[in-house]
Amino acid sequence: MLRSKIRHSKTRRKEDEPDLPIRWKRRKGKRFYPATSKLRKELGKRHKTCIKIACILTYSDKISVNRDRPFTKVVLAMSADGKIADRTGAAARFGSPADQRHLETQIADCDAVLFGAGTLRAYETSLPITAPDLRQQRQTQQRSPQPIHIVCSASGDLNPNLRFFQQSLPRWLLTSAAGAQPWQGQPQFDHILSMEFAPPACWQPTLQELLQLGIDRLAVLGGGELVASLVEAGQIDELYLTICPLILGGRIAPTPVAGNGFLEAIAPRLELLSVRSVEQEVFLRYRICHA
Ligand SMILES: NC(=O)c1ccc[n+]([C@@H]2O[C@H](COP(=O)([O-])OP(=O)(O)OC[C@H]3O[C@@H](n4cnc5c(N)ncnc54)[C@H](OP(=O)(O)O)[C@@H]3O)[C@@H](O)[C@H]2O)c1
Repeated sequence: MLRSKIRHSKTRRKEDEPDLPIRWKRRKGKRFYPATSKLRKELGKRHKTCIKIACILTYSDKISVNRDRPFTKVVLAMSADGKIADRTGAAARFGSPADQRHLETQIADCDAVLFGAGTLRAYETSLPITAPDLRQQRQTQQRSPQPIHIVCSASGDLNPNLRFFQQSLPRWLLTSAAGAQPWQGQPQFDHILSMEFAPPACWQPTLQELLQLGIDRLAVLGGGELVASLVEAGQIDELYLTICPLILGGRIAPTPVAGNGFLEAIAPRLELLSVRSVEQEVFLRYRICHA
């Protein structure tokens, strides 16, 4: 049904077109998404294309209606051979300005972003929303200027001198009981959440807690270990992949999903929601099919 909607719509989503108007749902205190006619009314004066896009997005988001966790998407850029960093594991800087814009757009659409300690150690900072229109969009939606930036570190072993701790962002730490200890009463994190990391990581209560704390939409920004853990736990709704025009190769270069991997027979299946190409890059959006 979704496929036929997309095929007939003949539309491709532009990054600065409105994203899921989930806030309307929340503002009205309703559990369910507004009907399409209501969406049409809200979008009234906008171009027809936007209305079609809203219909597609409405359907996509309905998939997770009545959920007990945030709507969760993974956003990653990878080389054409499927690596998210080179073999040194350094920060990945190969995305174009269009990819940067795409990433900011996805972040701006969320209440929080989540990333692994490995990613923070590689980048030393997190990505704030800088585009004035995206900041304005959040203000119009009565959202905070920046989403909450949540670092996932089982050990809690993070360097407090990282530039991340000087950034003007709300910062939370997701860690184990032991990992939380050195950060208690310290100024670096606004909030500390504990979870059980003993394999397999116990995501359900943590994500439930995030929803209760007002995080309705969550973007997971990598890296591969964190993403693998969430995919294994069946907690990812959508996957945004940007394919960038380079080959990184390497046996140990990180990939979008690390962990133990899946046997082909039971590998999670994806449904392609959209494909968009901008110059040399391809922007893919998948839904993860849950049994
Ligand atoms: N191209 C892109 O879009 C992109 C985006 C992000 C990152 N990257 C690249 O990805 C690489 C980092 O990825 P990575 O896979 O090495 O690290 P990662 O997933 O960012 O972080 C792994 C760390 O997070 C904590 N963690 C996350 N999930 C856990 C779980 N289920 N159980 C226990 N601990 C968990 C642990 O922290 P502790 O060790 O503190 O316990 C673990 O060592 C870097 O090279 C970075 O450049 C690329």
